[in-house]
Amino acid sequence: MIKVLSSIVIIVLLTAVSAQKLSAHNHGVKSEKQAENVVKFRKSLLQLVRSNMGPLGAMAKGNIPYDAGVMNVNAMRIEQLGLMMEDYFVKDTSSFDVSTKAKSEIWANFEDFSSKATDMVNAATALQEVALEEDEGSYRSAIGKLGGTCKACHDDYKEE
Ligand code: HEC
Repeated sequence: MIKVLSSIVIIVLLTAVSAQKLSAHNHGVKSEKQAENVVKFRKSLLQLVRSNMGPLGAMAKGNIPYDAGVMNVNAMRIEQLGLMMEDYFVKDTSSFDVSTKAKSEIWANFEDFSSKATDMVNAATALQEVALEEDEGSYRSAIGKLGGTCKACHDDYKEE
């Protein structure tokens, strides 16, 4: 009797675990309201990326003075924001009528999309090293490489 009971308990536990696993992989969005929030949050993330990239671009062009401190802080922020990209984009909003420039290809190729976010993270990490070494000979190209990772992802996954 105890054996039968414990098998039942095990079956119930296993079912619960697999149900949980399934829901962990279900990134579906359930309502238009939820889809709107998802879009709002991911755009906010990218607005913060933009606000940190602005001074870096200006520095690379020589429009503002070289400043290793700003470079280090902004690159660190972009690294952190880049690490959040996957979480903020995992929810597929493509079946909802939301105001977005995100292409539906993101969710068909999510691994590739995530790897492009990782490219941004790595370029931001490299820029921090250049800033910490106060390497004035290579900061322009390091900023250029970081900017290239924005373009690489936008070319494939963002509407014009
Ligand atoms: C891994 C892909 C990816 C990378 C890397 C990336 N972006 Fe984007 N970005 C997107 C997508 C997709 C959108 C469209 C989001 C939407 O409209 O829902 C977007 C939108 C934006 C927007 C508009 C946000 C808004 O309010 O509509 C800005 C600004 C932006 N990106 C700046 C940048 C900058 C600057 C970088 C590099 C430092 C960068 N992005 C790197 C994918 C990426």
